[in-house]
Amino acid sequence: MGRNRPPPPEPRDSDSGERNHGIALQHAKLGALCDTLRQHLAVEDSEDCLTLASQLRLALDSHFAVEENVLFPALLARHPELREQIESLEGEHESVRRQLDQLLFCIGATSHAQAASVLSHLRALLDGHEAREERCLEDP
Ligand SMILES: [Fe+2]
Repeated sequence: MGRNRPPPPEPRDSDSGERNHGIALQHAKLGALCDTLRQHLAVEDSEDCLTLASQLRLALDSHFAVEENVLFPALLARHPELREQIESLEGEHESVRRQLDQLLFCIGATSHAQAASVLSHLRALLDGHEAREERCLEDP
């Protein structure tokens, strides 16, 4: 009895916890990079600031590319009702990219105080965005 019973069905979105954990980890690393850059801006170390800001740009470009090309399309395929939310998240990526351009410009012009202000704005934007993204990926 029970030998021919089919295996239990896979839980829906069984990989969402792992995927979200990976994204949350990347978000934490991006935040740490922002913090390090803020510390270097405070002591006006232009060379390190440019290196760190360039690292932040590469890390964000790579992170956004995975989200926009892999995670969001996969999420949308399973949950078409999330289209508006995902488009909003993609729009926020564009805002972050514009802030990054401005940050790199300020650092290149050795305007450290202005760069610190842009970074502070960028960080606030990123924090809110990442929280919305993690909620969306965790519990669609
Ligand atoms: Fe993200």
